[in-house]
Amino acid sequence: MSASPATSPQSSLGTALITGASTGIGATYADRLARRGHDLILVARDQARLDALAAKLRAETGVSVQTLKADLTDKADLAVVEQRLAADPSISLLVNNAGAAANGAFADLDVSRHQALIDLNITALTRLTAAAAPVFAARGKGAIINLASVLALTHEIGMPVYNATKAYVLALTRALQKELGPQGVYLQAVLPGATRTEIWDRAGTSVDAMPKEWVMDVNDLVDAALVGFDRRELITIPPLPDEAQWEAYDAARVALLPNLSRAVPAERYRAHDPAETWPPAIFA
Ligand SMILES: NC(=O)c1ccc[n+]([C@@H]2O[C@H](COP(=O)([O-])OP(=O)(O)OC[C@H]3O[C@@H](n4cnc5c(N)ncnc54)[C@H](OP(=O)(O)O)[C@@H]3O)[C@@H](O)[C@H]2O)c1
Repeated sequence: MSASPATSPQSSLGTALITGASTGIGATYADRLARRGHDLILVARDQARLDALAAKLRAETGVSVQTLKADLTDKADLAVVEQRLAADPSISLLVNNAGAAANGAFADLDVSRHQALIDLNITALTRLTAAAAPVFAARGKGAIINLASVLALTHEIGMPVYNATKAYVLALTRALQKELGPQGVYLQAVLPGATRTEIWDRAGTSVDAMPKEWVMDVNDLVDAALVGFDRRELITIPPLPDEAQWEAYDAARVALLPNLSRAVPAERYRAHDPAETWPPAIFA
């Protein structure tokens, strides 16, 4: 764990703390946010990559760029980042970007791989949000960008635990916007589709196995996500051509709400004769 010192005068936009900033989507956010005039705190495990990006962005943009080496699956490292979020009054934007995937069938992967995804994609994101949210709310301003995935919406394709972690990110962001939005805090869930980064190789698969029409360039992805940010969208799905499709999907969910909690079971679940289905095929 180490932090490099700030050198430049403070940005009027405040500091963006970006997790997973050493490469991919996080490094691209770092580039774009620096060019917008944010000072930066870049978090990841690879200090050499963080240093190289920080030096480049300082030279090209003149903003202050600090690095914070941390393994967000390590409790002590994570606690340092949480403390930084809670105690540094310059931080105005948290980009919860660090994430990982693991390719393979649920039963074939060691449970430690599942746990590692949950630790990074869920636990770290939640704890960092919990550190930043009260500070932003007390100030009545600030923003949190959470990287979810279109796989939050799919069960048919993807990776069971990864998809589920991203469904969590989407659900948490929506719920928190309801709570924190009225207090002046803006939250955005970004749902990329397949994007050309290292995550694929790290997960043990290849992005080139997919049709190339499905795969977005990382620069296009982040630029589109920032258009969504500037529009103050709660949910941004850069690859989705027709926004009305998402709206119809969400309207169907909202239509369920009045029917999801009732004193009596639905007619189809009322007592029936078990002999009709006994023994159940799953045990026979
Ligand atoms: N690429 C896609 O197709 C895609 C699609 C949908 C959603 N997303 C989401 O977008 C986010 C960024 O993904 P990406 O494609 O840019 O991934 P990536 O290229 O693999 O980069 C992941 C970043 O997270 C950091 N990281 C990984 N494990 C970490 C740990 N334990 N502690 C701290 N930092 C860690 C990595 O840096 P170090 O190795 O230096 O720590 C790296 O900077 C993720 O949340 C991902 O789930 C990606």
